Amino acid sequence: MAARLKVHVDPDKCQGHARCKALAPELFELDEYGNAHEAGDGTVPPGLEDKAWLAKSNCPEIAIDVIEE
Ligand code: F3S
Repeated sequence: MAARLKVHVDPDKCQGHARCKALAPELFELDEYGNAHEAGDGTVPPGLEDKAWLAKSNCPEIAIDVIEE
């Protein structure tokens, strides 16, 4: 069975590039300044694991962590 994933955005690193939101809109929310945070508690629903990794690898600030539980 695949590991359950969680995403986390480091608010100190995020600069609002919003690629995460474009690539994985189910997993990220943007605040009024355009900075991202994980949706809910960051749990990645089944089937969206590839989007989690894609968002992580596309963040120019390396602000996204994908945690395997
Ligand atoms: Fe921030 Fe990176 Fe997304 S800079 S808005 S976490 S692409």
